[in-house]
This record gives sequence, C-alpha cells and structure tokens, in this order.
Amino acid sequence: MSSAPHQRQHLYVRDTGVGQTVLFLHGFPLSHTMWDDAIERLAPAYRCIAPDLRGFGRSAPVHGPVMSMETYADDIARTLDRLDVTHAHVVGLSMGGYIALAFAERHAERLRTLTLVDTRAEAEDEAGRARRVQAATSLLEVGRAAFARDMITKLVAPGAALELRARLATLIEAAPYESTVAALMGMKVRPDRMHVLRELAVPYLVMCGELDALTPPELSRAMAAANGRSELALIPGAGHMSPMEQPDMFAARLAGFLERHA
Ligand code: MLT
Repeated sequence: MSSAPHQRQHLYVRDTGVGQTVLFLHGFPLSHTMWDDAIERLAPAYRCIAPDLRGFGRSAPVHGPVMSMETYADDIARTLDRLDVTHAHVVGLSMGGYIALAFAERHAERLRTLTLVDTRAEAEDEAGRARRVQAATSLLEVGRAAFARDMITKLVAPGAALELRARLATLIEAAPYESTVAALMGMKVRPDRMHVLRELAVPYLVMCGELDALTPPELSRAMAAANGRSELALIPGAGHMSPMEQPDMFAARLAGFLERHA
C-alpha cells in the first residue's frame, strides 16, 4: 500500500491496490477517508485511487469564492495524468457524483464505467440555490460544530452507530470554512447533467441508501431510467452515506458491477 502526500498544488491521493483503476470521489464536506471501508474491500482486485478534493482533507485550501464542479473534475483529470492513469471506473458520492458527471461530460474518453452513489443529476431549482446561500451564511454564524451536528442528522439513517456519527463529525469539523463555502457556491451553480446520462456510452451503476433523506431513491430511479446501460442498486438500512453505513453490502454491489464490466 502506498499513500503519499503531494506538493501543495497537487491533490492528496490515497493510491492502493493493483489492477484496473477505480477512482473514488468523496462527498461534501468530507475527505477521501469516507471511502476507507470500500477501499479495504476492493483493493485486492483493483487499484483504488481516492483524492482529497481541492480544499478538503490533506489537499491545499481553496482561495476564491466558488469551486465549480468543472474545476474539481479538471483537477481530477490532471491528477490521473500525474499518476499515469488513462482510464478509470469513476465512483462519486453526492457532491462527488456531481463531479463524476462533470468528469464524464468533459473527459468521457477516460471512463471505463460510472457509478453514482446517493446523488442527483439535476441542477438546483431556485429554492435549492437559496438554500446553498443560507447554508453558507449559517455555517459562518453558528460555526462548524453546529453545522456538522445539523448535517449529520440528515446524512445517516436513524439509529446509525455512534462511531459513524463521530467519524463524520471529525471530517465536517476539519473542513476549512473557505473550502466549504466555495463548494456550496459551486453546487449552487452546477448545471443539469441528466443529458450526460442519456448520452453515456459506458455502463453505469446508480446506488442509493433506501433511507437517503437528502437524495432519495426516486432520484436514483430517474437517473437509472435515463439510459439502457444502467443498473440500479438500493441499499437497505442506509441513508445518504451508504458506503460507510452498510460497507459490506455497498462493496459487494459495486464489486459485482465492476467485475461484469472489467
Ligand atoms: C454531499 O453529501 O456531498 C452533499 O449532501 C451534497 C449536497 O449538498 O448536495
């Protein structure tokens, strides 16, 4: 296993395992460590690459008002170049899914398959855009601890283990304010990308926790219905953080899909 920090302008990357590359894109405002359980299960068969998106985890902080999904996606393409990876199975959760869709649109030739986890393809409506500004304002008013507490109630299914809530609290409270605000502003302006799914030329898997309150299963059903190349997997007992909440079931479904398309 190798796990090396890179220079300031580079994204920090966890890079482990051997085989076809699976690229894991984390959710907001977390870090690559949200994929630790999945990577442990997949690394015996795949090279698993999990970056910290710009501004999060061990990557350098963001300076600027907006981090667009396109900018994150282009960061990822440059990171794959640096790691000599031409093609990857791309897996993204929630904001990582928005970025995966932007990557699929801008770097389609590099995709082996696409897996969208607890996410959506639509742009924000007017109310959603207002909620992004409200979230950024509230973060600055109440601070990271209260922001994290509120967010965690929406991220996991009722009854989720204390240990999981604690991991999420640590991640959310570690995110720099400017990175979190810039990501919110980027999610606010992201365009609709349902057409990317309709036009996708590779197989794709849509996964969602059955109890996901933030991006409920009907959104996943709609994404899976966009194109005949799709598979849909709903994960019982999981909320929005299905890879962390039900790691065995999540990894088994993902591994089955990857095996069919490796
Ligand atoms: C995430 O988990 O990345 C966020 O819930 C995404 C969002 O706020 O839309």
